[in-house]
Amino acid sequence: MNTPICDFIKKYSDSGVIRAHMPGHKGKSQLGFEKFDITEVDGADSLYLANGIIKESEENATSLFGSGKTLYSTEGSSQCIRAILHLAKMYAVSQGKKDKMYVLATKNAHSSFISSSILSDFEIEWIIGDASNYLNGKIEPEKIEKSLSCVDILPFAVFITSPDYLGNICDIKGISKVCKKYNVPLIVDNAHGSYLKFLDKSEHPLDLGATMCCDSAHKTLPVLTGGAYLHISKDAPSFFSENAKSALMLFGSTSPSYLTLCSLDNANIYINDGFGEKLTALSAKADAMKMELQNGGYTLLGDEKLKLTIDAKKYGYLGSEIYEILYNQGIICEFYDSDYIVMMISPENSEKELNAIKNALLSIPQKSAILDTPPIFLPCEVAFSPRSAHFMEREKISIENANGRVLASLNISCPPAVSIISCGERFNCSTVELCKYYGLKECYVIKE
Ligand SMILES: Cc1ncc(COP(=O)(O)O)c(C=O)c1O
Repeated sequence: MNTPICDFIKKYSDSGVIRAHMPGHKGKSQLGFEKFDITEVDGADSLYLANGIIKESEENATSLFGSGKTLYSTEGSSQCIRAILHLAKMYAVSQGKKDKMYVLATKNAHSSFISSSILSDFEIEWIIGDASNYLNGKIEPEKIEKSLSCVDILPFAVFITSPDYLGNICDIKGISKVCKKYNVPLIVDNAHGSYLKFLDKSEHPLDLGATMCCDSAHKTLPVLTGGAYLHISKDAPSFFSENAKSALMLFGSTSPSYLTLCSLDNANIYINDGFGEKLTALSAKADAMKMELQNGGYTLLGDEKLKLTIDAKKYGYLGSEIYEILYNQGIICEFYDSDYIVMMISPENSEKELNAIKNALLSIPQKSAILDTPPIFLPCEVAFSPRSAHFMEREKISIENANGRVLASLNISCPPAVSIISCGERFNCSTVELCKYYGLKECYVIKE
């Protein structure tokens, strides 16, 4: 496997040419990495019209992931999600679909899913996995089947977030069978799961029947922030591969970061040169560590190998309190709220680091469980489509007064960008309570 982008950029940065082109740093060092930060000069190819080194590197990624097509994004899964949903809607139109355009989605969708609905103008039908914890997107195939079997008009896509932020993984194989039965494309937000492909037995959504998915390479692989993949299955209609670049272009900057492209390129070598073995070794260590923590009284959540999600309250603390204890020992977690602490590990964490995390956690004395839980989630009535609501006149009000009002802004989310209520939906008592629980104070609603 080669690294055509890295090779080009190294050669270019060593060539000593006069950079009479962007960026303004001209390759002169301010921070140390500027010499590798180039623009689309001759030979550097062009991300959205790739025909040279970027195309070659994307083909390497395609072969590593065994997809029909894998394309790069330098603007994260957020860009890929917008592109994929746009593509799915375009495909539905190309198939003669004219009626209600909507997507059936799990409630824990990332905010970029809501922004997609505004940008590409579609409605959303939510499926709730667990009303007592709306962050948990674990949904059974039967629930999808039930939703699809009782509608007059099918959605143009089913959108599942798996793994979710807490590390829950859905039965994508089962869900994809249901989607195939109803001939609805299955889109998986696999932002947290690039590495799933390289476990002993792949658990990557594409291998389990998804039509398309996005992976934030930067979340679990050694890739710079923003580096992501848009994957299209070999079984997907050719329409998706043919139009994917233009869909990405619609939502992307015309100045993609070559530093990020370089690191996506380099990830191909990293994956090819023994990443699977590194993951196997790490999985064994992570399993042992989780076992020790459970024996020490911790309640862990989620199915993911590379996530450590702790139910803090069951151990007698708020998530924020455990976060702070770890922070003071130089351990910075990925996420916390009052209920949970989420840590993400990768083969780049040393054994010493893993032991430090484990020992820090085990040295916290267990207390009696805190019994308070988040308010139950009750679905919101939909007053307007997300796009219509977004363009209506709005006013800012206190969450205290929001019951009965319709949200006008993108969404109101708790920290991992998961919406409690989205644009065009009407607040109910439960939404207000949830917003208060997650510390939200104000919101924009449609002016009455
Ligand atoms: C579930 C999920 N989907 C999508 C995204 C967006 O990914 P990115 O930051 O790569 O744009 C995130 C970001 O945290 C996420 O948690």
